[in-house]
Amino acid sequence: MTFYNIRLFDKTVDTASFSCGQPQLDEYICRYVSQDIKRNVARVFIATPVNDTVQLAGFYTLSAGSVSCTDLPLSLAKTLPHYPVPVALIGRLAVNSHFQGKGLGSILLADACQRVANASTTLAVVGIVVDAKDKATVGFYQHFGFISLPGQPDRLLLPAKAFRV
Ligand SMILES: CC(C)(COP(=O)(O)OP(=O)(O)OC[C@H]1O[C@@H](n2cnc3c(N)ncnc32)[C@H](O)[C@@H]1OP(=O)(O)O)[C@@H](O)C(=O)NCCC(=O)NCCS
Repeated sequence: MTFYNIRLFDKTVDTASFSCGQPQLDEYICRYVSQDIKRNVARVFIATPVNDTVQLAGFYTLSAGSVSCTDLPLSLAKTLPHYPVPVALIGRLAVNSHFQGKGLGSILLADACQRVANASTTLAVVGIVVDAKDKATVGFYQHFGFISLPGQPDRLLLPAKAFRV
């Protein structure tokens, strides 16, 4: 069994060998991540095996976002004001192919939810939103209680009550 350290992105990690099966995500972590961090567009968290702090096993990004209440499921929208409401956004989440199917995706997702729960005591959000890259990934998020937004099957939400501290 592999144990992981999860920490903020730093340049000591090997991004060039990262391969998750989605070329856009591989290219993002290799080429564009530093500029997103520098511009305060995203916070990026990386997982490395405890015995190898250079090997990139997986990563995810967190940003602030908002959604129109008309895009939310009616059951949630009717409890909210009629203007765009704040959410946390998991912009990207990926696991290196070598580590897939061994629980790291769920560890990264749980870590993201925990960080948002902690941050939400200071900065309010109604939930966590994620844009799944394809239909197969929708299933991954649904497995953890995310629900597709009406008319937007690839955009999913985990309501705050599911992770609030
Ligand atoms: C999607 C991804 C992050 C999943 O990571 P992973 O480490 O392979 O997933 P895990 O091993 O943690 O799986 C956790 C659970 O989710 C389930 N699961 C994984 N992928 C799933 C899918 N596509 N549909 C439904 N369930 C899925 C697993 O069966 C497992 O269930 P269990 O807890 O009952 O055993 C990973 O496959 C990946 O990086 N894919 C390529 C990049 C990508 O598509 N990223 C998402 C972009 S938004």
